[in-house]
Amino acid sequence: MAELIKTVDLKKYFKLSKTEYLHAVDGVNLSIEKGRTLGVVGESGCGKSTLGRTMIGLNNATSGEIWFEGEDLLKLSPSRRKAYRSKMQIIFQDPYSSLDPRMSVFQLIAEPLISNKVHKAKGELVDHVSYLMEKVGLDQRFINAYPHEMDGGRRQRVGIARALALNPEFIVCDEPVSALDVSIQAQIINLLMDMQEEMGLTYMFITHDLSVVRHMSDEIMVMYLGQCVEKAPAAELFRNPLHPYTKALLAAIPQPVIGEKMNKEIIRGEVSDPINPAPGCRFASRCKHCCPQCTQADVPLKKVENAHEVACVLYK
Ligand SMILES: Nc1ncnc2c1ncn2[C@@H]1O[C@H](COP(=O)(O)OP(=O)(O)OP(=O)(O)O)[C@@H](O)[C@H]1O
Ligand SMILES: [Mg+2]
Repeated sequence: MAELIKTVDLKKYFKLSKTEYLHAVDGVNLSIEKGRTLGVVGESGCGKSTLGRTMIGLNNATSGEIWFEGEDLLKLSPSRRKAYRSKMQIIFQDPYSSLDPRMSVFQLIAEPLISNKVHKAKGELVDHVSYLMEKVGLDQRFINAYPHEMDGGRRQRVGIARALALNPEFIVCDEPVSALDVSIQAQIINLLMDMQEEMGLTYMFITHDLSVVRHMSDEIMVMYLGQCVEKAPAAELFRNPLHPYTKALLAAIPQPVIGEKMNKEIIRGEVSDPINPAPGCRFASRCKHCCPQCTQADVPLKKVENAHEVACVLYK
């Protein structure tokens, strides 16, 4: 299948002072085929949201390339780049804080249509908003409701309708169900999967929840402190995790067995500092396999099997 989006050595550093840079995204190479889902996992602060935001242009990249439909977006003039903005959208974690509480459902869903001058006549706009509400399973009786009058699941449906309004091709789903309770999570996940099938959407699905990411993704990328440490097809990653960090992450999934004490491998030690990090594997200080080679130079991602790549000196 054809590739829709690709990043090459993408970096996003936040400048904290004259000499201090926080390496939020530090040399990420990824590619997602049209109609497929890349899951992105990793602990809080590892740069998942920054990666997604940089890819769709909400953050300015520090360096690297972002290829979309055969164009390197970072080389385009601002006006040409703008034309791609509507093709790339984001669904946020917390639908309550991402929606303006003073706007009604109609105003919220109409906003992207109005600001992109999609319709000339008011009637067309009303029809389009109703169509989008139907698409995301939101009853028409909510058209004049405000965010605080709806539950979390319905608020997230409004967020999804806004993301869909301009017929995007690529959507970054940034923890879209983390703030919802379990039964509503399943409804929203099913909605996202149905929409993908119907409209051929391509997703980058960011989450802490490994069971959700396994269910949603074709391929999974594991991030640690701004870098990708492992990438593999979803089933392969769960069957055969290679990087010590991925292993620890998967081992940490709780599997309740009544009467049995949790005997899990826990990741010990502190996450190292993302500000001006030293060369070498960022996980080295917490890794029980750490050897001198790990801290001498950066450890690149290497292909070990078909589509399975890992950045670790244990694999030659
Ligand atoms: N605007 C900013 N200015 C400075 N630092 C930032 C900014 N945005 C993010 N960061 C830092 O970049 C790093 C990555 O943050 P990011 O929000 O991308 O992580 P995340 O993996 O999405 O975390 P979470 O799972 O908690 O959402 C963090 O150290 C964060 O503090
Ligand atoms: Mg985040």
